[in-house]
Amino acid sequence: MESMILRFGVHRTEFVAAPGALGDFGIRLASRVDGRRVVLVTDDTVGAHYGEQMCATLRSAGFHTAEHSIKPGEASKSLETAKTLYEFLARNAVGRDAVLVALGGGVVGDLTGFVAATWMRGVDFAICATTVESAVDASIGGKTAVNLPEGKNLVGAFHPPVLVAVDPTCFATLPQRDVRAGLAESIKHAVISSPEFLDWHEAHADRILAQDPSAISELIARNVRIKGDIVSRDPHETTGERMVLNFGHTVGHAVESACDFDLRHGECVSMGMLAAARVSEMMGLTNGATVDRLERVLTKFGLPVGLNRNVAADRVISYIRRDKKVRSGSLQFVLLEAIGRTTIRSDVPDAVLREAFETLLP
Ligand SMILES: NC(=O)c1ccc[n+]([C@@H]2O[C@H](COP(=O)([O-])OP(=O)(O)OC[C@H]3O[C@@H](n4cnc5c(N)ncnc54)[C@H](O)[C@@H]3O)[C@@H](O)[C@H]2O)c1
Ligand SMILES: [Zn+2]
Repeated sequence: MESMILRFGVHRTEFVAAPGALGDFGIRLASRVDGRRVVLVTDDTVGAHYGEQMCATLRSAGFHTAEHSIKPGEASKSLETAKTLYEFLARNAVGRDAVLVALGGGVVGDLTGFVAATWMRGVDFAICATTVESAVDASIGGKTAVNLPEGKNLVGAFHPPVLVAVDPTCFATLPQRDVRAGLAESIKHAVISSPEFLDWHEAHADRILAQDPSAISELIARNVRIKGDIVSRDPHETTGERMVLNFGHTVGHAVESACDFDLRHGECVSMGMLAAARVSEMMGLTNGATVDRLERVLTKFGLPVGLNRNVAADRVISYIRRDKKVRSGSLQFVLLEAIGRTTIRSDVPDAVLREAFETLLP
């Protein structure tokens, strides 16, 4: 894939996905920013695999680097971890001309972006995305956030990166569970926008899961186009257009919180999409064939279509309610009319929501 420019209001993000993009990261970044100081943020796992290579490319492009590593996992997307990063920046006298570089998945990207948005009222940041989740979704669209015990992504900011680079050869070390989880977001993009793209997933499932380079390259390019397009039309989620990207996330986020972040985000989105499709069917918006089709594709990609543990429906419903109260007062639910066609409704009865969630229970 050639490099692409993603628009976010007046902001421009360079997005590149290609083997070798990690090695070229320094030189690309140097052409996007004026300063020559980088704080590299990664997690312990990704840092052990790719930290050295990232430092080398940054240094050879003339950057001075300092490195801060966090514990891997969703629990690190917290205000506590943000605080340790702020303290690191303060100790190292990091000023406004510095760039924060996130090397890792969506957790490192969301946290680093949030800290970059708030450090001295905003410094530049860039992402080297090492997970499928981040390459097809998290690194696109300018949203950054940390979680609170009360819910996911409750504290955040819009702060698009100057550069996103994906080197798909890094996926070789990614556990298969994480590869599959990331693919849930790609399936989401297909379900909300393109029956043909969903057919493509089904037809090429084996090649995608085997990480065939041309299949992965096409997968990333198509996701960037779909999400980049939606975001460019509604960067700050004000017109409602961007809301369709939350398909599967109402129930998904609640399940993620109710399971104490023990499941992957993409796994919760998989179950959340199925629950949303079932809500759509119960409300007479779509037919059983749409639900069956979605379930078939998710299963083909080894994604969960049900929980492997008992989770109290009350707990999930209360997360959804809390989220709704905190966010807007009325729950805007993204529902399906057909593959590629969504509708937003705020009149989903709690009883329907509960029944749909309960279909996920073992
Ligand atoms: N900002 C957004 O618009 C947006 C969109 C979608 C998802 N997200 C967020 O992204 C997060 C999930 O992202 P994720 O799935 O990338 O999680 P993650 O960053 O926790 O990565 C998953 C695991 O893979 C490991 N890992 C990462 N790259 C690796 C590699 N190349 N080799 C070996 N191990 C590797 C990590 O250490 C971690 O243990 C969630 O918090 C979600 O809310 C944000
Ligand atoms: Zn998501």
